[in-house]
Amino acid sequence: MSEKVVYRSGYGYEPVPRVEDFFEGWPSPPTQATFQDALRGSYAVEFAIVGERVVGFVNALSDGVVAAFIPWLEVVPDYRGRGVGAKLMRRMLDRLGHLYSVDLLCDPPLVKYYQRFGLQAIPGMGVRTPRNLGGTTN
Ligand SMILES: CC(C)(COP(=O)(O)OP(=O)(O)OC[C@H]1O[C@@H](n2cnc3c(N)ncnc32)[C@H](O)[C@@H]1OP(=O)(O)O)[C@@H](O)C(=O)NCCC(=O)NCCS
Repeated sequence: MSEKVVYRSGYGYEPVPRVEDFFEGWPSPPTQATFQDALRGSYAVEFAIVGERVVGFVNALSDGVVAAFIPWLEVVPDYRGRGVGAKLMRRMLDRLGHLYSVDLLCDPPLVKYYQRFGLQAIPGMGVRTPRNLGGTTN
């Protein structure tokens, strides 16, 4: 817990984040392969790393010129509440700063959290198909 958290952009180096460290509370988390494919296919990824372990990450999908969507931001429980999530968000928003729109979806309790970074609550729509994550659907 006292080990230093370092931040890295992009992908293509070790360590690879372990799916079992993330997706807390998901009834059907992605498989490791699906997780890695999603990160490789992302426009931008930011990692928080302690030693060999990825303790947090955020990724963004984008056309690169107008719009981006942030599907995942997650920090492992033992590193929460230390500003890791905020650092990851700020690094990501810096990388996406040239775009017109940056969107994400969150549960109502997290609205205030994201307002810290200048995001505003706006109505949204979506559909979820858990079987497409590759894992077992509970
Ligand atoms: C949300 C999350 C990424 C924040 O990461 P973190 O490193 O703990 O965040 P920070 O240290 O930057 O900020 C902590 C603040 O976020 C708030 N926060 C964290 N999770 C929250 C939640 N679910 N609801 C409301 N507030 C929350 C904390 O209360 C704390 O507030 P404070 O600064 O006033 O004390 C982390 O809690 C997490 O991984 N949660 C599970 C996955 C998740 O919900 N991801 C977001 C999907 S939209």
